[in-house]
Amino acid sequence: MKVTFPEGFIWGVATSAYQIEGAWNEDGKGESIWDRFSHTPGKIANGDTGDVACDHYHRWREDVALMKELGLHAYRFSISWPRLLPEGRGRVSAAGLDFYSRLVDALLEAAIEPSITLYHWDLPQALQDQGGWPARATAEAFVEYADLAARRLGDRVKHWITLNEPFVSAMVGYLEGRHAPGHSDLDEALAAAHHLLLGHGWAVPVIRRNSPGAQVGIALNLSGQTPASPSAADRAAAWQRDGVINRWFLDPLSARGYPADIVQHYGRPMDFVQAGDLEAIAAPLDFLGVNYYTRGVVRSSVVSEAENAPRTVLPNPERTEMGWEVYPEGLYEILGRVHFDYRFPALYITENGAAYPHQIGPDGQVDDPLRVAFLKEHLAAATRAIAAGVPLRGYFAWSLMDNFEWAHGYSKRFGLIYVDYQTQRRVLKTSAHWYRRVIAANAVVD
Ligand code: FCB
Repeated sequence: MKVTFPEGFIWGVATSAYQIEGAWNEDGKGESIWDRFSHTPGKIANGDTGDVACDHYHRWREDVALMKELGLHAYRFSISWPRLLPEGRGRVSAAGLDFYSRLVDALLEAAIEPSITLYHWDLPQALQDQGGWPARATAEAFVEYADLAARRLGDRVKHWITLNEPFVSAMVGYLEGRHAPGHSDLDEALAAAHHLLLGHGWAVPVIRRNSPGAQVGIALNLSGQTPASPSAADRAAAWQRDGVINRWFLDPLSARGYPADIVQHYGRPMDFVQAGDLEAIAAPLDFLGVNYYTRGVVRSSVVSEAENAPRTVLPNPERTEMGWEVYPEGLYEILGRVHFDYRFPALYITENGAAYPHQIGPDGQVDDPLRVAFLKEHLAAATRAIAAGVPLRGYFAWSLMDNFEWAHGYSKRFGLIYVDYQTQRRVLKTSAHWYRRVIAANAVVD
């Protein structure tokens, strides 16, 4: 059966600045926390850095041409904050602005709608030196940056995403320490999460003012958390995990404040929350962006294995190269849950995709059948959500091309387009050719 999408459905791909641009210190760009982190020995697999990455800063014309070849309707990319504001606030880099301005023009010329993410994890190091996201002043700096970007680009860019995955910025960066700036402090992480949300909420009206008619939203990493058994202990553990990952962000964005059970679970003073903050964070949005990769299957750590009920939910043994369970139904589940519980005016899948090994044939073609299968099943799940009444307006595949996968460096490839990092040659994988046909048909094709 042919699975089709509604008319006007937006087909896109996503990338982020640090993962593809390179040119880390060119044309006056300031240092970001990811420059600092990747230059710190031992932080990134194989000692990789984003210094060159996909060299997109120099090859953007070629990359836009490839996007046009795919027939994309939209391109989600992020702005490197320190490329625009090398010290984080104050002095503006004209070269930085020019880069994004030309990119936007080239996209529009190719009939591809630009969708800008303002913050995809690369905080100016100068702001980290003044306290980073745990400091309230960083939220103020973010609004100045959002104001500048929307003033200069908002005449042409009508799709804005304030933050990418504030959970990951705060928790992986300031608590788990696997991402920049590499700290391990729960109070810092909670303050960081709050100031990220606050900066977001303050920025929403500023973007709207500078970019009339714009759609403004945020992208969250959301994933259902399934109890490993129906035991009370597993159900409580799964609900708590859900609170930490999903509700901690969805609830305050929806004017419900922070979830009381998780506030209690953290047991911290939360004294960074000031009068008026929660109202600001709940600024009405035009859409919510959902980044979906996998689900969690949660087993209680409070009750011992012997006392707990036998596991009844076993993860699908099929995993991506990240070790993440392949669970397409989870996309249907999370879209439905978010829509029926929270009622944002529209939803976009702002990221979905998989890392898989590829094969380069003797003819130079790059085959990735597992990625095609992964995307097919997830798109089918998305159509089931639409049929159930979810206002899903578009889909952005992660990612346009192989790129710097954070702490994994270049070892994990998520691209529809293969990148030979030695020569910077790009080759459309089987999945890219397939995606072109999906877009043309507005349907899941074979
Ligand atoms: C998401 C990030 C994105 C990419 C994918 C695989 O969490 O937003 O930059 O790394 O994971």
